[in-house]
Amino acid sequence: MIKLALIGCGKWGKNYLKTVNAIDGCELKWACDLDYEKLNQAAAVYPQTRFTENKADILNDSEVQGVIIATTPESHYMLAKEAISKGKAVLVEKPVTINRKDSHDLIELATAQNTVLMAGHTLIYHPAVKRIKGLLEEKHIIDDLCYLNMSRTSSTSQAPNVDVLYDLAVHDIYLSRHLIGMDPIWVIAHGERYIQSTYNNVINILLGFPNGKIASIFASFINTEKTRKITLVASKTKLVFDDTQTADRKIKIFNKVEQEHFLAMEDNSEPLTQECIHFMECIREHNEPLSGKENIEFVAKIIDCISKSLAKGGEKINIF
Ligand SMILES: NC(=O)c1ccc[n+]([C@@H]2O[C@H](COP(=O)([O-])OP(=O)(O)OC[C@H]3O[C@@H](n4cnc5c(N)ncnc54)[C@H](O)[C@@H]3O)[C@@H](O)[C@H]2O)c1
Repeated sequence: MIKLALIGCGKWGKNYLKTVNAIDGCELKWACDLDYEKLNQAAAVYPQTRFTENKADILNDSEVQGVIIATTPESHYMLAKEAISKGKAVLVEKPVTINRKDSHDLIELATAQNTVLMAGHTLIYHPAVKRIKGLLEEKHIIDDLCYLNMSRTSSTSQAPNVDVLYDLAVHDIYLSRHLIGMDPIWVIAHGERYIQSTYNNVINILLGFPNGKIASIFASFINTEKTRKITLVASKTKLVFDDTQTADRKIKIFNKVEQEHFLAMEDNSEPLTQECIHFMECIREHNEPLSGKENIEFVAKIIDCISKSLAKGGEKINIF
């Protein structure tokens, strides 16, 4: 039995409460939040978990092997640092940290402590993404890939108090590299703060990969609708992944040989369930997670390069 704890029981943290409590071979021993009201509400639903406002209850409990951090982004660094220092495996929600140096520090600390550090890059664990990745490899589709077009938008009446780069576009940064299987070599980014926002609420990013392959990422908090769409265009095959559709209509294939069709999915489980199971397995086997240290370092580097391009009015930044 793997014993875990959760820090942060807000909108997304609630999903961890539900998901971890439903996984066999795992006990969510503790959950922590600074908001007493949220703890009270959750305690009524999950009597098997102990709820606390004091993170020390978790950090000093030697039975707790792994800590999941789903708090607001600015608090991730300190909480993760404390948990790693206590020798705990840590799963930190995206964005792991809000600057590159802090991510690097956490990686160094986790390496020194020989403990698991994993990012909540949930979509890497999405069964549909696994299915697409398998297909791309099996049919060598990436060899003649032209571009990926990625759209991730919401229609919130009030944009959240966070940069759209960290909140939405970050998913497409790690996904583009995961699907293409190469590192980007340059980036161009343009952001806007519409409707009196303090943060960018709309962003366009172009990531250039070797051999002219491109990922173009559009993310917005102020769209007319929610989109979660990736269009992949290669010379012989085209594919659309629309995550707003039902499981049987998420992946659509177009090619010259077969008629356009939806790709069947054998696994319809939730990406967050797969992510949590992966975290548990990495703790048990002491494996490096798919969204582990190297992946965290990569995302921090790309966000840093995007920030440089944004600051220089969309200048092309080479990525080393
Ligand atoms: N992987 C995904 O697909 C996905 C989706 C949504 C949100 N997220 C991420 O999850 C995280 C949380 O987002 P949210 O929407 O739940 O935010 P939220 O504001 O609803 O919840 C954050 C919670 O953390 C608590 N908190 C803040 N600082 C704390 C501290 N030091 N100790 C204990 N509790 C503390 C707050 O009281 C609040 O309840 C963010 O990093 C967000 O980017 C990830």
